[in-house]
Amino acid sequence: QYAQKDGFRFFMEKEIYEQSDVVSDCMLGRIKDNETFFDEIDASIIEGIKEIKICACGTSYHAGLTAAYLFERLSKVKCNVEIASEFRYKEPLLTDDTLFIVISQSGETADTLEALKMAKNAGLKSLVVCNVDNSSMTRVTDYKILTRAGIEKGVASTKAFSTQTVVLWMLALYFAKEKNVIDNEVLQNELHALREVPKSLIVNDKIHEKTKRLSKRYLHGHGFFFIGRDVFFPLALEGALKLKEISYLHAEGYPAGEMKHGPIALADPELFTIALMPQNLLYDKIKSNVEELSARDSTICAVSPLDFELADDFIKTEKTDHYMLEFFEMLVALQLLSMEISIRLGNDVDMPRNLAKSVTVE
Ligand code: G6P
Repeated sequence: QYAQKDGFRFFMEKEIYEQSDVVSDCMLGRIKDNETFFDEIDASIIEGIKEIKICACGTSYHAGLTAAYLFERLSKVKCNVEIASEFRYKEPLLTDDTLFIVISQSGETADTLEALKMAKNAGLKSLVVCNVDNSSMTRVTDYKILTRAGIEKGVASTKAFSTQTVVLWMLALYFAKEKNVIDNEVLQNELHALREVPKSLIVNDKIHEKTKRLSKRYLHGHGFFFIGRDVFFPLALEGALKLKEISYLHAEGYPAGEMKHGPIALADPELFTIALMPQNLLYDKIKSNVEELSARDSTICAVSPLDFELADDFIKTEKTDHYMLEFFEMLVALQLLSMEISIRLGNDVDMPRNLAKSVTVE
């Protein structure tokens, strides 16, 4: 089922279109009336835990950064995230009241695997969020949760990221419920939103067409800033990484509020700013950040359900009532945008130069 392109131009495109279905699979049997739950773990996983540390590489690291906001906001547990290759050599202080979570599509990335072994040797409880069962990581870890995304062939990761993010969101709610730190109304609202995620991941034809049109001009861009706040900051990082990986254009993801501390000096009409402007999270804050960039003549592409008069270009997303639904809809838009630019540049979308699907050497 996952080995053919089924009429799509590239595996990446097929995998973008598959996200709605694989996320449904990923949630199957894991959401009950008033809680999330996983066959693979039980409440003992958080007994005595005061802190969560997440380690990963690449796109999986961005899922980790997103999760950190959710663990603190929903589960009320301290959480920090590190790039696995940095973690390994910094002589980290590890205490056994920390739950060590690694995230990996393949379960084979050398740096992440070594980080996991270090944590285990230090006596920490470990959990792997992984797409491949029987991988090196799932064999080493104490607990595992599988993301059920199916084989991912495109080197640029898409459906692995959406399933990881959904698993981590469900896990944040599981911890919140077990620790009794979440209000029932909030929990119901979160569960309601979770059930809507597959809908948010269905590719919107209008948005796909729009990214094709934008790609004609954007392929000439020499510099891109993807900006967002809160979970839309890791999403901005992911949008920028996708563009770099397959289009070979220079792109940076930045927290929108940090632009004024340096990067805004680069603003001019040749600088393309992709602004993630969700309706349901800090809209006024990001709006004023984007206004500053527009006043300095940056070309603005707003990704938002709300009209924004200073936008030079617009990718209009659906109105929803939860910021995470906006997150997933914007994710698809960013994946499509980088893919369409890459196709127009004539690149090999599935096998970008210099990159490997799984990096098993240091
Ligand atoms: C490689 C891939 C990336 C991926 C990263 C981590 O660099 O090209 O797409 O995000 O490895 O891989 P993992 O399998 O550990 O998620």
